[in-house]
Amino acid sequence: AAPNAAVVAIDGPAGTGKSTVASRLAARVGAHMLDTGAMYRAATLAVLRAGVAPDDDAVGPLVDDTDIRLTVGDGETTVYLDGDDVTREIRSDEVTAAVSAVSANAQVRTKLVELQRAHSADAFLVVEGRDIGTVVFPAAEVKVFLTATPEARAERRHRQNIAAGRESIVSEVLDSVNRRDHLDSTRAVSPLRAADDAVTVDTSDMTLEQVIDRLSELVVERIGVR
Ligand code: DC
Repeated sequence: AAPNAAVVAIDGPAGTGKSTVASRLAARVGAHMLDTGAMYRAATLAVLRAGVAPDDDAVGPLVDDTDIRLTVGDGETTVYLDGDDVTREIRSDEVTAAVSAVSANAQVRTKLVELQRAHSADAFLVVEGRDIGTVVFPAAEVKVFLTATPEARAERRHRQNIAAGRESIVSEVLDSVNRRDHLDSTRAVSPLRAADDAVTVDTSDMTLEQVIDRLSELVVERIGVR
């Protein structure tokens, strides 16, 4: 049986397969999945819609006044901005380009971390993000840090773009991966890093199945569900 309250934290940079891994793992172990990147993306969309620059001081108060809601399920997460379904729009290039700046805002992080913690009451959750094991759920039962070489991550993003019918150039995807890594790991507030007690899994040469198997083992070991 699934536990009443347990958290599996999955952190790591973009392009490690985190979202796919988190949703497949959640399905496998009977947990719900929480995609925290989707929250930062929704906040960013609100900023862009308001015509405010992503690094403007107005960003904090604006996001604070925005209603961001996620339906947590075992499959795809649905995201609402002031009641509007924005699940698809938050994946646009415009949002992707601006999200690092918005997520560097301390007031934005305070609000979203609070929302993320509210989801965990009495829930068995796989939570995916950048600061889940370090800041949001420091007492998580399982902490995983997924990594892969920048080239492997860019290649995966590129293939996803092509599959989704989006124009894509590998060298540009690699530049964007490197740029976002740099911004996410050097920001002052909650930079991307592995928690001291996280298990690091390098997925560069692993198939999705191998990653899911490895993480399921950890969940069974530490939480005792299967
Ligand atoms: O995982 P993603 O690409 O959807 O995340 C979008 C951005 O949100 C990413 O550039 C970093 C930021 N983010 C964050 O700062 N903290 C989180 N817990 C999740 C995402």
